[in-house]
Amino acid sequence: MSGFFRKEVIRAVSLLTVALGMLIFFPLSTEAGGRGPAGKDDQGPALMPVPARIQLSQGKFRLDEKFYAAGQDQPGSRGFKAIARFMSRLAGRTGLFLEQDFLADQTPGPKARLLYKYERAGRLVPNEDESYLLEIGTERIDLRAPTDLGILRGLETLLQLLSYDDQGYYFPCGRVEDRPRFTWRGLLIDSCRHFMPLEVIKRNLLAMAAVKLNVLHWHLSEDQGFRVESRTFPRLHQLGSDGLYYTQEQVREIINFASDLGIRVMPEFDIPGHSTSWFVGYPEYASAPGPYRIERGFGVFHPVFNPANPATYKFFDKFFKEMASLFPDPYLHIGGDEVEAVHWKENPQIQAFMKKHNLADNHALQAYFNLQILKILTKYNKKMVGWDEIYQPGLPKDIVIQSWRGTQALVDGARKGYQGILSNGYYIDLCEPAERHYLNDPIPPDSPLTEEEKKLILGGEATMWAELVSPETVDSRIWPRTAAIAERLWSPQEIRDVEDMYRRLRVISVQLEEHGVQHLRNQDMMLRRLVGSFPASTEEMAALRALARISEPVKGYARHSQGRKYTSLAPLTRFVDSCFPESLEARDFRKRVEEYLSSRQPEKAEVLKNNYFLPLGRLVAPVSELAEEVPVLKEIKPLADNLSRLVSMGTEALSYLKSRKNPGAQWLEKQKKLLEELKKPQAECQLAIIPAVEKLLTALEEGKK
Ligand code: ACM
Repeated sequence: MSGFFRKEVIRAVSLLTVALGMLIFFPLSTEAGGRGPAGKDDQGPALMPVPARIQLSQGKFRLDEKFYAAGQDQPGSRGFKAIARFMSRLAGRTGLFLEQDFLADQTPGPKARLLYKYERAGRLVPNEDESYLLEIGTERIDLRAPTDLGILRGLETLLQLLSYDDQGYYFPCGRVEDRPRFTWRGLLIDSCRHFMPLEVIKRNLLAMAAVKLNVLHWHLSEDQGFRVESRTFPRLHQLGSDGLYYTQEQVREIINFASDLGIRVMPEFDIPGHSTSWFVGYPEYASAPGPYRIERGFGVFHPVFNPANPATYKFFDKFFKEMASLFPDPYLHIGGDEVEAVHWKENPQIQAFMKKHNLADNHALQAYFNLQILKILTKYNKKMVGWDEIYQPGLPKDIVIQSWRGTQALVDGARKGYQGILSNGYYIDLCEPAERHYLNDPIPPDSPLTEEEKKLILGGEATMWAELVSPETVDSRIWPRTAAIAERLWSPQEIRDVEDMYRRLRVISVQLEEHGVQHLRNQDMMLRRLVGSFPASTEEMAALRALARISEPVKGYARHSQGRKYTSLAPLTRFVDSCFPESLEARDFRKRVEEYLSSRQPEKAEVLKNNYFLPLGRLVAPVSELAEEVPVLKEIKPLADNLSRLVSMGTEALSYLKSRKNPGAQWLEKQKKLLEELKKPQAECQLAIIPAVEKLLTALEEGKK
């Protein structure tokens, strides 16, 4: 069908129903924009992370254009920049033309209504004091902290407290006494599988600061790319990066930018495996002769440093000398994960070396290598961090083990006196729900560790591995779910009410856009691009967006086994890439189904039918038409078909439940079989509303017994 002809048809059949459907469906959408944290649907402020202690009272500090902040800072200092950002964000959210001329006046005079005071500049090291005390009265706000880092954290809390009522914007009066539970609250960004330009790093640093994260773990070398300029070994970035690397100037720019936000930048150079890109320019340090090319595929590969070659350590001595002076953080991450020993086994020189040094196996050989690297790092005043594979007896106690394979490594390490950080359970690339990460605790309530051992668990890090993200989609994989992890790492352990977390997460997600993170806005842009030059109507675009909002990318590593071979050059622009890892719409739907099933109130069944199933059903026709017209959207036709079948199934199930009629064993069997069919991914997505419909079927089945 030609675009034009087809448009006439679709207008005739579905314009009205789609329009109605959208109107009903979208008010339930999850964007909280327009509602203040304590606005009309007042459920309390949306603080994330929840402070250690907070007491709010009825009073209100009214905000007007005379609002004036004063502290003790000189222009250029961290505190000065923080308060300037605060004022700008406050003005941006409220539309108020604040009188203060970006803090030219820093002397607390009679005008000052927000007064902040700290004792010293904070150091960007673990265990630095980030506590603060925030007191909000009706006329004056006081923010005090031992360090300027505490001021930064407190200003974020104050901004999150911003509320409104009929008279305008205000801060609720009260007192917040806050400090983090864990000192190491990180986000790993993998700039290697896909290069992340400077602005991606910057906007994510701003968003990190908003939820009080304090470590950027910057993954800078991989099989797929070596991403930092090395002046000592220039072929590393020249030949190992496709020209996509950070100059040293840019690295310093990021470090300074992060420092202003109270965020440490810890680099990771992953060795001895995950290292193909190093060998493109320097094959002489590899265990097999080469030549080497930048790896385009994903997985675990054979190229590995040669631990038996003394030149390898000379190389690393010079390399780490250079990087140690570029990165001021006291810690340097050496990776150490997933070492493939094939080239070690194939190299007679390495085998002879192992015999000579009594290195019984590959693990022992890697341990030998790590010890040499440790000596080099120590020489340059860096403490070593590595993935849990690096553990071996006899390492000094100031190293940090990052656990990715399981929490047991953390427990085992702590029992032996080693510091650890948790990443297992915080793999945000797996597209799992925020809830799962949120309930994953570095020190769970049933931890077998003693109080002394628990002190060795420094915190955790969300890991944004970049096999399947581009600069366009990375924000949507990080946010908002990482805010839930940030809360786990900052807030008291007993803060774990999942429903309340989701309530606040929606608000925070929208606030994060203030920093330029594109987790919400890029979805529309990507869908528009997919539709391309085809003259889609507003309603068709809305239907496509609604489908994206109830679809999720397949979980875990399943995208790699859906028939397409992903490489670092593959487009990440398809429908699946536009979908969020967790559909909050589908979560709402599931909650409503649960509410209905527990109450069996007929009105609730009506809401499910009229506000969910009917509008969902109306998406099918316009989406199917788009899929027929636009080649790149062809793959979502089966998804639309599945949605259609799912809606029929759900509507029928609901009607049986409502009428308390028994559908009969045959009907149930048929539906269950069909549901299994519908669970099969289409276009690398799954319909996130399947569990809700499944609950209806289960309820019918249980009623039958
Ligand atoms: C890892 O995920 N290989 C650290």
